[in-house]
Amino acid sequence: MEGNRWDSQVAEFGIACEACHSEGRDHVAQNRNPLRRFKLHLTGGPDPTITNASRLKGPESALACGQCHSVWAFENMEKKIDFNRHGAAFRPGKDDLVQRFVVQPESDDHREQKKFINKTEPDFFKNRFWGDGMIRVTGREYNGVEASPCFRGGDFSCLSCHEMHPGDGSRQDIKQWRNDQLRPGMESDAACIQCHKDKTENITAHTHHSPASEGSRCCHQVSSPSVKESVSYGRPNACNLCHLDKTLAWASDKLATWYNQETPELSQDDRTLAASVLWIVKGDAAQRALVAWGMGWKPAQDASGRAWLYPFLIYGMNDPYAAVRYDAWKSLQTLPAFEDHAFTYTADDKERGNRITETYRKWSREVRKPEDVFQPETGLDQFGNLRADLFQRLRSERNNSPVVLAE
Ligand code: HEC
Ligand code: HEC
Ligand code: HEC
Ligand code: HEC
Ligand code: HEC
Repeated sequence: MEGNRWDSQVAEFGIACEACHSEGRDHVAQNRNPLRRFKLHLTGGPDPTITNASRLKGPESALACGQCHSVWAFENMEKKIDFNRHGAAFRPGKDDLVQRFVVQPESDDHREQKKFINKTEPDFFKNRFWGDGMIRVTGREYNGVEASPCFRGGDFSCLSCHEMHPGDGSRQDIKQWRNDQLRPGMESDAACIQCHKDKTENITAHTHHSPASEGSRCCHQVSSPSVKESVSYGRPNACNLCHLDKTLAWASDKLATWYNQETPELSQDDRTLAASVLWIVKGDAAQRALVAWGMGWKPAQDASGRAWLYPFLIYGMNDPYAAVRYDAWKSLQTLPAFEDHAFTYTADDKERGNRITETYRKWSREVRKPEDVFQPETGLDQFGNLRADLFQRLRSERNNSPVVLAE
């Protein structure tokens, strides 16, 4: 401040045009000239005064989104101060975050910084990544995209699947787009097949599922399912997340036959009990939440049957973690007879306990049918009741380590 004059500088907050397109000052100034505008319009060429992510190579395009959608940290204290005083030096179109870097636990870069983070914030990695370095929180998709095998090809970016301004000629319903900003058709195999054309020829040969089956839909996260990821890092693999009623041994066996994967050594439980049951009863809070959600996922229900899911979801509604209780309740609402089921997942233990007892009673007396079949791998007896001895043992083995998934 000088005399009575303030030198205030205004920044655009939030996710506005310049966050993705870089500064527009020059762009606006130059395009006041109608001749320039007309020429650009006629040639359809790029306008060098502004960044358009769809004209960038994969890595730069992805980083334009990754500047926000990544787990990042400051290069050093000096850069941090600079960032806090002057804002981000990164501009869409560049290939480097300048004051910051994207934190990938398994990569060779920034070892010193990562060591420092580990020392000052010991849970930093655990709260954001699986044990093998795969990102486990949402909103940080760049980490997954950058680490995916597809990224090495140089064309893979967020825009392979997403679009930010839909609807020139409204190719799709805006309500549908708003949900996840996907390009038309990108919630299906098309997202992968645009590049992996060889896989269209014979989908069944690759996925071993009929083309119309949900098992042939590609997964969001680009990696191949393995039983090792589940045994070594506790990350539920895609096969068992759909085939909820199957053991890890079953998946391991199929993966060995279909793709020549090695079969890891498995415990007695992993050979006899469905993986989802082990995860929801004795897994850590993140595994429990994932399975509670998965039990409400239609493709998984189609693959695994619905009748046996009730007792597990009702059980999940009493989880110590509110997030698990919420997921379990929402999943229960996907099952017949519980569509409108009311439940206060934040209520105190006693009120919740009463409601859960009522819910279980409703299922066992009114909803369960004599013809329902309960397989032994589910850990339920032939009537669908949780086998008390087994259940108590599994619960006593529960992984109670605190889980905080950082936003
Ligand atoms: C979250 C990032 C993001 C924001 C915010 C954003 N855009 Fe875009 N914009 C993109 C991307 C990515 C493309 C490439 C095409 C697409 O994805 O739709 C694009 C394309 C464009 C294009 C070219 C369209 C075409 O048909 O080639 C124009 C013009 C544009 N944006 C203007 C704007 C304006 C004006 C704003 C602010 C009101 C804005 N954008 C905000 C990401 C963004
Ligand atoms: C300046 C930071 C920033 C940039 C740049 C940015 N995003 Fe985002 N994006 C956000 C935030 C913050 C949210 C969460 C908004 C909210 O509260 O729902 C979000 C939400 C989203 C969502 C989810 C919306 C929903 O309904 O759940 C998608 C998809 C997305 N962004 C994709 C992109 C893509 C693709 C790009 C690059 C073209 C991009 N974003 C660039 C900050 C950013
Ligand atoms: C923009 C193009 C592009 C898109 C879209 C794409 N991929 Fe890829 N993908 C590649 C390239 C290129 C490679 C090979 C990278 C290399 O190793 O050189 C690859 C490699 C892979 C691999 C590793 C193959 C191996 O033998 O190691 C898998 C698995 C894979 N992609 C699955 C997928 C899935 C699933 C999707 C959809 C969710 C997808 N890809 C979407 C380009 C793409
Ligand atoms: C291979 C296709 C593909 C690519 C590449 C891709 N996404 Fe997505 N994305 C999806 C699909 C499909 C969904 C919706 C389904 C879901 O939530 O898993 C989604 C959902 C999202 C969401 C919403 C998540 C939520 O929890 O609601 C965000 C944010 C997002 N993507 C950001 C990004 C960003 C940023 C990039 C690039 C760094 C990216 N995505 C790359 C396919 C893709
Ligand atoms: C998105 C859900 C989904 C995923 C992921 C999935 N499947 Fe399937 N799978 C199904 C469905 C649904 C069927 C029922 C038959 C059909 O439609 O092909 C099925 C059938 C099967 C069958 C034959 C029927 C049986 O019960 O023996 C086997 C074996 C199988 N899947 C193994 C796997 C393996 C191994 C994986 C992981 C590589 C996997 N599936 C991933 C949904 C899925």
